[in-house]
Amino acid sequence: MERKPKITVVGSINMDLVTITAQVPQIGETLLGKQFQMNPGGKGANQAVAAARLGADVRLIGCVGNDRFGQDILQHLRNEGVDVSDVEPVTAHTATATITVHNQDNSIIVVPAANHHVTASFVESKREVIQDSDILLVQLEILLEGVQKAVEIAKENGVTVILNPAPIQELPVQLIKQVDYLTPNEHEQVLLKQRFSEQELNGKLIVTKGSQGVSLMADGQELTIPAYKIGVVDTTGAGDSFNGGLAVALSRGMTLNDACRYGNAVAALSTTKLGAQSGMPTGEEVEQFIKGGRNK
Ligand code: RIB
Repeated sequence: MERKPKITVVGSINMDLVTITAQVPQIGETLLGKQFQMNPGGKGANQAVAAARLGADVRLIGCVGNDRFGQDILQHLRNEGVDVSDVEPVTAHTATATITVHNQDNSIIVVPAANHHVTASFVESKREVIQDSDILLVQLEILLEGVQKAVEIAKENGVTVILNPAPIQELPVQLIKQVDYLTPNEHEQVLLKQRFSEQELNGKLIVTKGSQGVSLMADGQELTIPAYKIGVVDTTGAGDSFNGGLAVALSRGMTLNDACRYGNAVAALSTTKLGAQSGMPTGEEVEQFIKGGRNK
């Protein structure tokens, strides 16, 4: 039997409070929305679920609040096959993301709460989990010191690191040097390019561009891997699905180009349902979708 890739995600765990609306309110205005949903989310948890559905052995390191949201999310993650033995309840609220979905696009406000309990020392206490992984996936919804510690441990142990720099913030050059791949969206890549030299970013940048696919940037060249065309319901979590897919594909030994194609298929399928995680496909669904030639 094929060995399952071991993927560790150090990241955020949120409850998504989603409102679907025909119009976005102006400051001071009240509007009636169309629909409301509460869904487990957070970039860390989303990427963990994406990779687990694709058949990886996934461990999530993070914090939830000692509250109802935290308990519900942990149960949900267990049902998804994510190992949550390294998610700890803390004295804080579980993080929330207030999401407005309008015209199939979204805007999000995250309140980090328990996610900001993921300190360097907390991550250090999980050293063995990180060093035992094929790939480490990190984002920026937890404390930067937690991200830095996780990346440091991974690099000391030859573990491949994918940093999804979302939401973007000032990053130390040492961190950029240590990561193998950076997966910003178009907005995030502008800020990275302002701050870091071409040489510092060379060969690491995989820019996600929504319906345009992804661009790989290396040696001054840009290669675009087109997105799959599909009927979009909600793009929330599409970037997370791409990251989960990329991690699984790379850990199975695919080339970077093929891994991005695979990630694109995972991301496309994820947009067919409302909610960050609900449309995330299984490995079999991705194979079928790719075979069906539903490309471009
Ligand atoms: O990337 C989508 C995610 O961003 C949502 O699930 C929300 O929780 C925010 O973190």
